[in-house]
Amino acid sequence: MKPHSHNHGDKGPSRGPGRGTGKGPFKGGAPAGAEGHDDRGPARGGRSHGANPKPTLRIQTTTLWEYPSQHYESATSKMQGDKNYVGATPSWVIWQLLQRYTRPNDLIVDPMCGSGTTIDVARDLERRGLGYDLSPSRPDIFRADARKIPLEDAKADFVFIDPPYSTHVDYSDDPACIGKLDAAGDDGGRAYYEAMARVISEIHRVLKDRRYMALYVSDSWRKRAPAASSQRSQSGPAEGTVSGIFMPIGFELFAMMREHFTPIDIISVVRHNQKLQKGNWHKAAEEQNFFLRGFNYLFIMKKQDGPARPVKK
Ligand SMILES: C[S@@+](CC[C@H](N)C(=O)[O-])C[C@H]1O[C@@H](n2cnc3c(N)ncnc32)[C@H](O)[C@@H]1O
Repeated sequence: MKPHSHNHGDKGPSRGPGRGTGKGPFKGGAPAGAEGHDDRGPARGGRSHGANPKPTLRIQTTTLWEYPSQHYESATSKMQGDKNYVGATPSWVIWQLLQRYTRPNDLIVDPMCGSGTTIDVARDLERRGLGYDLSPSRPDIFRADARKIPLEDAKADFVFIDPPYSTHVDYSDDPACIGKLDAAGDDGGRAYYEAMARVISEIHRVLKDRRYMALYVSDSWRKRAPAASSQRSQSGPAEGTVSGIFMPIGFELFAMMREHFTPIDIISVVRHNQKLQKGNWHKAAEEQNFFLRGFNYLFIMKKQDGPARPVKK
């Protein structure tokens, strides 16, 4: 499934180990909301695209962000990015960040720009948006691999990134797509995490000193393949529980970022996924003893490489 080919986040039954043969309410194995990455785009911010009025856009003041709309409405725009893009970031998340950590005319860079949400929010707020993607969805996004951003050192005033959370969405056929690397693959996720380490290092290179970056990500969970599941069941999980694989992607990426940046804060962003409203998912999560993904992490970091500023006396 390509990002534009569908208007919801399910990848279908045959995607990835552990999917395709699961029993219970989910033909394709675990429900997408368990996995972490399938609630972006139309079905994800589902309530946002219908007739529901958009809530007032105002600065969030706690570390728990809740805004049940994928897009905001401002004097200059009604939609940011593309509502049909599977995996689009809620634009108000980016709006919050740019309001707090940037100034007019700042250069805002998104190395995995997808449907262009970051560029649109930057324009709305009179910042300069610069977006790259392996598979550009529109002409103002430049084709580039986020592991090799074609930008000079220390040019960006702010970097936002919402990377693939393992393999839950097929973004493109490009073999360099990080969404093809399984965070719970046979290599223990090494290829995925090594790729993301290179992306984070590039972000550090292009960001100006004493400026900020933010990474939006979710952990992931999925059912084990039935064979592995039945082998394990002899000594494994208690009856009534499902054998699954938890991928703590958020903490893993946070640890990588700490090698380059100073943490500023960690926000929990409540996920609004139409599918999470479905009773059968919750029933399965309870009966089979797993959790549906209820939040995304938003890690806010600062580059602080230079000498400390002298303290004013
Ligand atoms: C979660 S989506 C980004 C969504 C975007 N923030 C938006 O609002 O539309 C992740 C993006 O990463 C891109 N991507 C995957 N691997 C990449 C790589 N190696 N370099 C650049 N972009 C990559 C995918 O093509 C996809 O557009």
